[in-house]
Amino acid sequence: MKKRICIIGAGPSGITALKNLKDKDLEVVVYDRNLDVGGNWIFSENISHSSVFETTHIISSKTLSQYEDFTFDDFDATVADYPSHDELRRYFQAYAKHFNLYPFIEFETEVKYCKRINETQWNISIVQNGKERLEKFTDLVVCNGHHSVPRIPDYPGKFSGDFIHSHAYKKAAPFTNKRVLVIGGGNSACDVAVETSRVSKTTAISWRRGYRIIPKFFFGLPSDVVGARSAWLPLRIRSWFNDILLKIMLGSNKLYGLQEVKTKFGATHPTINDELLYKLRHGKVHPKVDIDSVDGQTVSFKDGTKEDFDTIIACTGYILKHPFFDSSFIDYSSGAVPLYLKMFHETYHNLFFVGMFQPLGCIWPGSELQSKLLANYLTGTWKMPSNISKLCKKEITHPHYRQIDTPRHTITVDYHKFRKALLKQLPKNWIHKTPKTQKAYHD
Ligand SMILES: Cc1cc2nc3c(=O)[nH]c(=O)nc-3n(C[C@H](O)[C@H](O)[C@H](O)COP(=O)(O)OP(=O)(O)OC[C@H]3O[C@@H](n4cnc5c(N)ncnc54)[C@H](O)[C@@H]3O)c2cc1C
Ligand SMILES: NC(=O)c1ccc[n+]([C@@H]2O[C@H](COP(=O)([O-])OP(=O)(O)OC[C@H]3O[C@@H](n4cnc5c(N)ncnc54)[C@H](OP(=O)(O)O)[C@@H]3O)[C@@H](O)[C@H]2O)c1
Repeated sequence: MKKRICIIGAGPSGITALKNLKDKDLEVVVYDRNLDVGGNWIFSENISHSSVFETTHIISSKTLSQYEDFTFDDFDATVADYPSHDELRRYFQAYAKHFNLYPFIEFETEVKYCKRINETQWNISIVQNGKERLEKFTDLVVCNGHHSVPRIPDYPGKFSGDFIHSHAYKKAAPFTNKRVLVIGGGNSACDVAVETSRVSKTTAISWRRGYRIIPKFFFGLPSDVVGARSAWLPLRIRSWFNDILLKIMLGSNKLYGLQEVKTKFGATHPTINDELLYKLRHGKVHPKVDIDSVDGQTVSFKDGTKEDFDTIIACTGYILKHPFFDSSFIDYSSGAVPLYLKMFHETYHNLFFVGMFQPLGCIWPGSELQSKLLANYLTGTWKMPSNISKLCKKEITHPHYRQIDTPRHTITVDYHKFRKALLKQLPKNWIHKTPKTQKAYHD
């Protein structure tokens, strides 16, 4: 039976899935509700799919944040170590143009509902130009992203100031002269606090535990490039070494008025920021502990202190959502996500996820490798292991990092170990830089 494959999403993961499936001459249609390629990296001042803000630059360096089929040198060698959101948008769009992918993407098309009929059929409801229609496919590849549905915290009491989530934070200007409280210790919280502190009356940051702040550079090199040099070491030793290095370079969190770190390296998703510690020591950002309750504009903290704020920006992360599935079919919004190589389902062998993992590093190089493996599976040159159920369970019981049990820590992988595991399944000559012509696609 001829395969007809649907991909949801034309972000960094969806375009590499499309490229690699087209490389194997498969029939593929991509649906994306956006106007163009880029997903999260299409900045908009209005609320949209994207969660980046005006000043976002990536936290993984370009050296470890590129497709091997189309590197930053292939795109624009002058791009800085940590590209901006706009450079990334242009990079992803250039990838799609270079590999002639646009004809296979239907934009402004929302996937509403996906029903798996059997091993060889999916019924997919899409909305295009305001009209809903049903399309049939043999296989479904999900690349809808996992950083766009906000996780909103709840506190006793009612806050009467402005309350937004970081998904809605676009730029610092609206917070000029405001008393701002930022919640969270992840990358959004630290970036947002640094940005608002440039214009606000006061900015405070509330952490519910101690986090390591990893600088973007060590010894003049991007920190992930330095980290990659010890990738051959066992993870336990690498993590121990990283902890020591950070302690030597930054000292303890107490020096900055922050809570001490009580977890091992990798036990929480890393926060990478060069400016937060500087802002704390310059009195521009004030450290606070977890929130106890709110009342009017007053926030009470768990150490007994109280302070008034005009605005709260909750940078409390995102929910893993697949609104186009019945929740009885797939619901990964909390708890373990049992997929082999974070992509293959143990029972549904015509359903795949690409990019649905959280590396300590960049996502799309891993998406590229997953896509190549998927292409080999769909063309029969790679066989799914017969013990897939066992392998799915093993990924849950033997994670790369033992992380603290909070909602954001369900799909973590170590960049280097994950890459190695995927490469093990691929042939040696897996890099394919030559674009297929439109003619080749239609032959
Ligand atoms: C502020 C911020 C900074 C980040 N920085 C980094 C970084 O430095 N390095 C890194 O690796 N990652 C980073 N990330 C993570 C980010 O999720 C990935 O970089 C990347 O965008 C993942 O690509 P993706 O294609 O899987 O998902 P997305 O980029 O989210 O793309 C998903 C696409 O699916 C489409 N879509 C979703 N649902 C539907 C539907 N029902 N119908 C049709 N289309 C749909 C969307 O329109 C979108 O185009 C960051 C995230 C945020 C929020
Ligand atoms: N510049 C960049 O490249 C950049 C910028 C922003 C984000 N990102 C990426 O985008 C993704 C999402 O990052 P994120 O920072 O938005 O989310 P995140 O990594 O999920 O971090 C959320 C933070 O909020 C805390 N939190 C959650 N619920 C809370 C509650 N009820 N009360 C108090 N604290 C709460 C979490 O605490 P716990 O530790 O307890 O879980 C964590 O500190 C990550 O992959 C990140 O690397 C990158």
